[in-house]
Amino acid sequence: MGIAQAAAPLRLHLGCSGAAPPRPTSLRVGVGFGSHARRKGGRRRSPPRAASSLHPSSNTRAHDHDPALKPPAPAGDVAGRDLNGAADHAPQQRRRAASDLEEEAWALLRESVVSYCGSPVGTIAACDPNDSSPLNYDQVFIRDFVPSGIAFLLKGEYDIVRNFILHTLQLQSWEKTMDCHSPGQGLMPASFKVRVVPLEGDEEGATEEVLDPDFGEAAIGRVAPVDSGLWWIILLRAYGKCSGDLSFHERIDVQTGIKLILKLCLADGFDMFPTLLVTDGSCMMDRRMGIHGHPLEIQSLFYSALLCAREMLTPEDGSADLIRALNNRLMALSFHIREYYWLDKRKLNEIYRYKTEEYSYDAVNKFNIYPDQIPPWLVEWIPPEGGYLIGNLQPAHMDFRFFSLGNLWSIVSSLATTRQSHAILDLVEAKWSDLVAEMPLKICYPALEDQEWKYITGSDPKNTPWSYHNAGSWPTLLWQLTVACIKMNRPEIAARAVEVAERRISADKWPEYYDTKRGRFIGKQARLFQTWSIAGFLVAKLLLENPEKSRILCNNEDEEFANAFNLMADSCSPNRKRGRKAPKKTYIV
Ligand code: GLC
Repeated sequence: MGIAQAAAPLRLHLGCSGAAPPRPTSLRVGVGFGSHARRKGGRRRSPPRAASSLHPSSNTRAHDHDPALKPPAPAGDVAGRDLNGAADHAPQQRRRAASDLEEEAWALLRESVVSYCGSPVGTIAACDPNDSSPLNYDQVFIRDFVPSGIAFLLKGEYDIVRNFILHTLQLQSWEKTMDCHSPGQGLMPASFKVRVVPLEGDEEGATEEVLDPDFGEAAIGRVAPVDSGLWWIILLRAYGKCSGDLSFHERIDVQTGIKLILKLCLADGFDMFPTLLVTDGSCMMDRRMGIHGHPLEIQSLFYSALLCAREMLTPEDGSADLIRALNNRLMALSFHIREYYWLDKRKLNEIYRYKTEEYSYDAVNKFNIYPDQIPPWLVEWIPPEGGYLIGNLQPAHMDFRFFSLGNLWSIVSSLATTRQSHAILDLVEAKWSDLVAEMPLKICYPALEDQEWKYITGSDPKNTPWSYHNAGSWPTLLWQLTVACIKMNRPEIAARAVEVAERRISADKWPEYYDTKRGRFIGKQARLFQTWSIAGFLVAKLLLENPEKSRILCNNEDEEFANAFNLMADSCSPNRKRGRKAPKKTYIV
């Protein structure tokens, strides 16, 4: 815990309008389900209906489907789920009426809502009434709230998202320290909690609510949540687009918030690459998983957030430099990722034949990658069609693992080209039994095993092979998969994955993640009633019903960038013809 917060949480009084809010004289966490309410015997979640209480129409779902969307029956499918022992998986009971499932998900999502001073401000990470040690799962996580927020937006319930945006905005300028060191001002917390504390100076025992953020100074491993601010910008744009409240982002405090995040991300450093340099654990994988450096997930969110911010920044004196820096970074970042992170069979063969130790300006093997680091699994795994963006690139190091979120969000944000985006979805289809199997979607593929697991994770017992971040299967990723598929006009892929999830997710009590190569078991330490599993499922369903709404999350390819990119690709190619002109603008890559 940081020195500043060692004694007691500092207090923050926020009003939803940003003006000084009324100071409540007594505790009211009533509507929400923070740990206080639950521990003190507040309202508890009624257990979800058992499979046997299904609506009789539940089995009709199977017949509604276009047979073309049906997944191929995976080997061991039925038997695998029976082995799990967590639920009744008789085939006729698995197909619940979609509306039943959605109704249940909505009820659960609403129960996870956290209120502050009487207004909804977020959703708690997991809401399992039988979990006696929720750790920090009783907090509102910024990244976890995004699918909840999108679900509410799609439902036309805008207030909770607006409140969330404004309250987290106030937390952004919170004084944060870790052993006397303060991170940049624009950092958004990983999570926050509504605490109830005695009202200062009151002798009659009155209490009040305070917001208590965690910027990583209390988080396991003390990791800084780099993705929080990026998601905040993405959600802010989605809120404006969906609610029609287009002047919201023009508020001075909101504009300042955007700029603080941008300044932190665009600050000059020692780095040679346009990608954002971060420590391990700075995003959804918030503990050591060997992703320090320039992980794809952060780059795709960064790119998306830059594009969203560019759309929302109001032109004013002094913002020209910021916009210029932002445009330069966007261009350089897209070039870098599209060129150097892209991997398909042809490119792998090229790397396989790389010469090393090239000292020159136009080296082919710019990052001095030793072909020996190509992992044996990959030469077998890479499909003849399709490809993906690798997980990370550093001098003499390529992380060849497939990371789902980074790849999907590269499609959504147009960080990947159209051809690459289709190829990524081709790969998802070609590798369905590795990436989706019995529960969508693998967070990454493959798992770190044996010595690699030992050294890279530090023998982390939570990240054992094929569990949790180490190639576990995370239902929440369904929503990002759905947005990406809809953007590429291939919604049938997402529909197929949703159908896989529908077979057991409710009966399994909406787990946080699943274990094993094929996602057969509920994760060893997985929380149940994990809110972003519930919300991710709902967003996927809602978007498949109204695909055009996914536009609130997508970024289109910038024409100017596309042209400049082609010219740059030409001019950077070692095979370029002499005398061919480079683009007029100079971009540092
Ligand atoms: C775990 C996940 C993280 C998530 C948090 C709350 O720490 O790794 O991504 O935000 O749980 O659900």
